Amino acid sequence: MEKTFLMVKPDGVQRGLIGEIVSRFERKGFQLVGAKLMQIPTSVAEQHYGEHKGKPFYDELVSFITSGPVFAMVWQGENVIATARQMMGATNPKDALPGTIRGDYGVTVGKNIIHGSDSLESAKREISLFFKEEELVEYTRTVDGWIY
Ligand code: PPS
Repeated sequence: MEKTFLMVKPDGVQRGLIGEIVSRFERKGFQLVGAKLMQIPTSVAEQHYGEHKGKPFYDELVSFITSGPVFAMVWQGENVIATARQMMGATNPKDALPGTIRGDYGVTVGKNIIHGSDSLESAKREISLFFKEEELVEYTRTVDGWIY
């Protein structure tokens, strides 16, 4: 089953949006298989955002994501990577449609509430950067047969 890495960023945690965000993915029908509240070490943030090194917003990105606790999660389900990105909305909240997480709660591009993997490769890389294998829990829900 496809898995993705999602993270409520420090602004989302400070604003008390963890429950709202988890609820959206639960109600959609995806399955939570890992989650933790954590403070990201700078070295991990630099690895996570490594592809953006050299871009004008890189330093701000790393200092923001390490500025307070984040809520890191792994979700699984059919097409979860692309669907989660749709549910998050456009990177810049000014372009994010109402009904999406960033469209409903975000204002500025720097503080856009949630991160989500953008491909299968980044999902695999990000999940292994933030979670040990034993922190992910495989379990059966009786409801799954009714959703998929
Ligand atoms: S790019 O250049 O198109 O690959 O960048 P993009 O995918 O749009 O964004 C990559 C991450 O950088 C964040 N971002 C910014 N942060 C602060 N300031 C500015 N101007 C800015 N522009 C983009 C953006 O939210 C992405 O973070 P994640 O956590 O991946 O969503």
